[in-house]
Amino acid sequence: QLAEGPNGLQKVLLKNSSGGSAEVFLHGASVTSWKSDKGEELFFLTKKAIYAPPKPIRGGIPLCFPQFGPFGNIQNHGFARNSVFELSSGSEDSVTLSLTPTTDLHRTFPHDFQLLVTVKLESNSLTQTLEVENRSSEPMPLGVAFHTYFAVSDVDSVHVDLGSPGLTFLDGTQGKAQKKLDGSTVKLQEEWDAIFTGTGDTLKLVDEKAGRTITIKKDKNLPDAVVWNPWEEKANGFADMAEGEWRTFVCLEPALAASGPTQVQPGQTWTCTQVLSVS
Ligand code: BG6
Repeated sequence: QLAEGPNGLQKVLLKNSSGGSAEVFLHGASVTSWKSDKGEELFFLTKKAIYAPPKPIRGGIPLCFPQFGPFGNIQNHGFARNSVFELSSGSEDSVTLSLTPTTDLHRTFPHDFQLLVTVKLESNSLTQTLEVENRSSEPMPLGVAFHTYFAVSDVDSVHVDLGSPGLTFLDGTQGKAQKKLDGSTVKLQEEWDAIFTGTGDTLKLVDEKAGRTITIKKDKNLPDAVVWNPWEEKANGFADMAEGEWRTFVCLEPALAASGPTQVQPGQTWTCTQVLSVS
């Protein structure tokens, strides 16, 4: 079902037969809300979100495509989150949105492609799939991330389980220094901006205070995982984040980042999937 969001931006409302729901804006294919079967909101969306393309919406799942991070000529995290997608197909509990390079936003990326984003809602679960077809005659470099902002009761009372001990990571708070994690969990007691490589296929975000665990299953095309919370000082520098909101989210992002980019060959389609579930 199509509905109007702020500033007349179109969004798709999904629901399942067990009481869950989700909202997906055509702008950025951003999933801004996911509610469990019992109606609990699982995503953070800032009260100061800007609904004005090409500004991305801060919260939910902004997509990083065709790269994660700031390098080369392309803007930070790529242009998908800045672009308005087209509705390709949909049903009550799933939708597919499509992006082709049609606007000025894409001129920094000299490749013809089609990006399909499918969001499917099931009982206490949300699946998101990207299908990237290279329609040009040259190999297409590609990096991606599902930059998911999970709502937490308090950043102090959660931990992230990366599923495998002693992983190495690039520490973005210290000039991307390479480090090694003791054990397999991250407690967020200070700013985190880390790209973990070689993680297992399952990540967990455990919110002890809320008694809730989010499980993320990611496929082999997403070998990395980013853990991010800007902490107070940096959060205060974001125009689109209200005071104190930084305590109420953790970004846990399946990605092809430090392990990438991959090269999608002409005529080929590259896919990746994350499956979120709540218990
Ligand atoms: C994270 C990056 O994934 O995204 C951070 O690791 C970055 O370095 C953050 O600050 C937010 O980026 P943006 O462009 O949405 O403000």
